[in-house]
Amino acid sequence: MTAKSKPQSKQATANQTDTGTPSPSRESQISPNTPKSSNKMWGGRFAGGPDALMEAINVSIGFDQRLYAQDIAGSIAHCTMLVDQKIIDREAGEQILDGLARIRDEIEDGVFTFRTALEDIHLNIEGRLSELIGDNAGRLHTARSRNDQVATDFKLWVRDALDGLDAALRDLQAALIDQAEAHAATVMPGFTHLQAAQPVTVGHHFLAYVEMLGRDRGRARDARARLNECPLGSAALAGTSFPIDRGQTAKALGFDRPTSNSLDSVADRDFALEFLSVAAITATHLSRLGEEIVLWCSAQFAFAKLSDAFTTGSSIMPQKRNPDAAELVRAKTGRIVGALVGLLTVMKGLPLAYSKDMQEDKEPVFDAAEALSLSVAAMTGMIGDLNFDEARLAQAAGDGHTTATDLADWLVRALGLPFRQAHHVTGTLVQLADQKSCTLAELSLADMRTVEEKITDAVFDVLTVENSVKSRTSYGGTAPDNVRAQAVRARERFL
Ligand code: ARG
Repeated sequence: MTAKSKPQSKQATANQTDTGTPSPSRESQISPNTPKSSNKMWGGRFAGGPDALMEAINVSIGFDQRLYAQDIAGSIAHCTMLVDQKIIDREAGEQILDGLARIRDEIEDGVFTFRTALEDIHLNIEGRLSELIGDNAGRLHTARSRNDQVATDFKLWVRDALDGLDAALRDLQAALIDQAEAHAATVMPGFTHLQAAQPVTVGHHFLAYVEMLGRDRGRARDARARLNECPLGSAALAGTSFPIDRGQTAKALGFDRPTSNSLDSVADRDFALEFLSVAAITATHLSRLGEEIVLWCSAQFAFAKLSDAFTTGSSIMPQKRNPDAAELVRAKTGRIVGALVGLLTVMKGLPLAYSKDMQEDKEPVFDAAEALSLSVAAMTGMIGDLNFDEARLAQAAGDGHTTATDLADWLVRALGLPFRQAHHVTGTLVQLADQKSCTLAELSLADMRTVEEKITDAVFDVLTVENSVKSRTSYGGTAPDNVRAQAVRARERFL
């Protein structure tokens, strides 16, 4: 079976910690309370308990409780295999499986008490299991270690996160393709250096993002395929002498196969780094779209409007409608990229195999996953909400002599000028238009002929924005018919 993330908000609000407060935040963990005895899960040779600060720095239950469903799924698979391999007897196995199911219910019903003294999710669940079923609980940890356990749990979580990201990006692509089809022929200025360059269509612009997000989804799929090997059974670092069946547990958890090297299995977190890399690149794409929405919705551009649904007002300036959601999408890229850099830095230089440093792998991943899923959802909402001012776009599309390239191309095509010379003639005509404060299309034929005497009336056909975009029929170009065809193709490829 595949571990499914259950809605985490439920348990996060309702479950209690042993201090009686709602599930522990980072803050609640660092208030010192001197523990009296050693950790009952591993404290055999420890006479005294840890210093309060030792407990505070060591504890991870505040964040790794999010792995409860994966941890229980992993334990079920492991226990079933131990019984099948006759490593533990069937009766003990059944008690363990019943206990694990009860613990899952307790967590999901919000009645589970997470204990900071038990460090992490693995020991919290095992500790509760021993309360529920007694000594047989101790048999579950045969032939495994928290090192392979946490690697397995975390891989399952990241796998779900990659699948969730893929589905969310698909929804965003659908919203972009809808807009692209609606605006396949709506002209706008295309920019380079944020200077009006050549007219393009709004649909073409949206389909550019559909391509970027398609590659992001491809990266997520690649990462998932590489991740999908099961570390369980690698034990602490060297494997185990028990006759386990790693193929069985791998299959039960939806992995393609077991990992091949026990040291690598417990020591690497490249799957988490790949997730964060995918997230960072995706967030970077979203930040660019966020920035463009901010620009488009400004009074200076006035290309588009967002409704009340995705804007906020100003408490002092009544005229304002602020694109906060687009700004926050742009900004959340910071923490997502930060998470990647943070975890790379944690992992750098760690000797094999496991070190406790690696407990620092989870928070950046959880935080980035949450920030990204919110960003993608908000962006999907905003794309559907954008309302374009087509008249304003048409006017802006022609501002700044954006059809100058069309004029130069015409001089090449119709008069046989070498492109460099055509470029020069066009530059002179742009200068003339600027002197006369008019557009290229508003110059008279006589004016044009003072610069190049062979120019004919036919030139005026290529100077309109509509004809400019219509002429861009090269594969991948902005011509409305191309855009319509590419939107259809995009639906087939991505949706
Ligand atoms: N909470 C630990 C982590 O997240 C689990 C593994 C602990 N292993 C150990 N040998 N202390 O990394």
